[in-house]
Amino acid sequence: MTILVTGGAGFIGSNFIIEWLGQSEEKVVNLDKLTYAGNPENLKQVENDPRYHFVQGDIGDTQLVSALLNEFRIRAVVNFAAESHVDRSIRGPEDFIQTNMVGTFRLLEAARSYWSALEDKSHFRFLHVSTDEVYGSLSPDDPAFTETSRYEPNSPYSASKAASDHLVRAWYHTYDLPVLTTNCSNNYGPYQFPEKLIPLMISNALSGKPLPVYGDGQHVRDWLYVKDHCSALRTVLDKGKTGEVYNIGGGNEKTNLEVVHILCDILDELRSRSDGLSYKEQVVFIEDRPGHDRRYAINAAKLQQELGWAPAETFETGIHKTVKWYLDNQEWMQNVTNGSYRNWMKEHYSQ
Ligand code: NAD
Ligand code: DAU
Repeated sequence: MTILVTGGAGFIGSNFIIEWLGQSEEKVVNLDKLTYAGNPENLKQVENDPRYHFVQGDIGDTQLVSALLNEFRIRAVVNFAAESHVDRSIRGPEDFIQTNMVGTFRLLEAARSYWSALEDKSHFRFLHVSTDEVYGSLSPDDPAFTETSRYEPNSPYSASKAASDHLVRAWYHTYDLPVLTTNCSNNYGPYQFPEKLIPLMISNALSGKPLPVYGDGQHVRDWLYVKDHCSALRTVLDKGKTGEVYNIGGGNEKTNLEVVHILCDILDELRSRSDGLSYKEQVVFIEDRPGHDRRYAINAAKLQQELGWAPAETFETGIHKTVKWYLDNQEWMQNVTNGSYRNWMKEHYSQ
């Protein structure tokens, strides 16, 4: 059997594929458009594995997706493909509408047509990977988001993801397509593109640049180590009830300033500055993100109690591993920050 992973050359998708191939005999087809965020170098360790097959393409290309579903007799689709960065969605929402909404719609339609023709329809699954940002922003005393929290997206990114979640829901209720949706909190770990808070801070700190904290730095995010997200997705794929939504989170609420200070402390310990001062010296407060959500927090009780999932990492263990990974993989970081990963892609995929 084979699964189709979309967006598998991005941050979470590449971690998911590496974990999957390490734990299962099943083949993986990775369909990725290779936008700026897609980097097949993330998958170097599995690129020669006969169970791994990479295809460059768009989830909105119905002909291509249908051909892949049929050729590989796909038993599950795991949809990571998306434009994922809030700041980019503010500067230019168009790609977010195209991939997150139209792309998901076309992927659903291709999956529906394939699934309708299957003799045994009962084993097929469409797992849609989504975000806690669809629920909007919490005040300090609000309880954490549950699966029944109201959708109140505030950025073009979260609105486009909310729309995709609604499409997935509708394809279940209207057409019986066996879907599962997950809404996860902020991920961190290896292979994250250094436009996101944690890898950006590590990269800037090491290159002596400012550490830009938006607004007052008191915005709260609920952090989850990426491999725990991957194990949760696997649990949902294996044991989740179709038509259901599962929130995923590790219960690690931190203000952005706390996160930046923790990163500085770890770097001070593992790679101290040559002048002996703390990396905290590099922190600067800059203009806030427009419409910046104040707080996210996830209640993952449903996933924990009904499906028996639990994260393996605390924030303390996960963030240590993460900083160490970026220190040990500075070539990866340099290739991404100076853009040379695009050349690597050209050589490998003659794009
Ligand atoms: P990412 O930006 O690192 O990777 C996205 C991948 O999708 C890239 O490889 C890109 O090339 C690919 N892609 C983009 N448009 C495509 C298209 N039209 N067709 C095929 N491939 C396309 O994103 P990520 O952080 O790995 O997030 C993956 C998914 O998880 C997204 O759907 C995101 O909304 C969701 N999510 C992310 C987080 C997080 O903290 N990063 C948390 C919760 C949910
Ligand atoms: O909550 C899940 C979401 O988490 C995912 O759906 C998104 O795909 C993912 O990008 C992430 O969104 P955020 O906007 O929370 O992540 P980001 O890393 O961009 O920012 C985290 C927080 O840090 C946010 O409050 C903004 C702040 N920030 C970010 C950057 C890049 C800064 O203060 N300075 C920065 O330079």
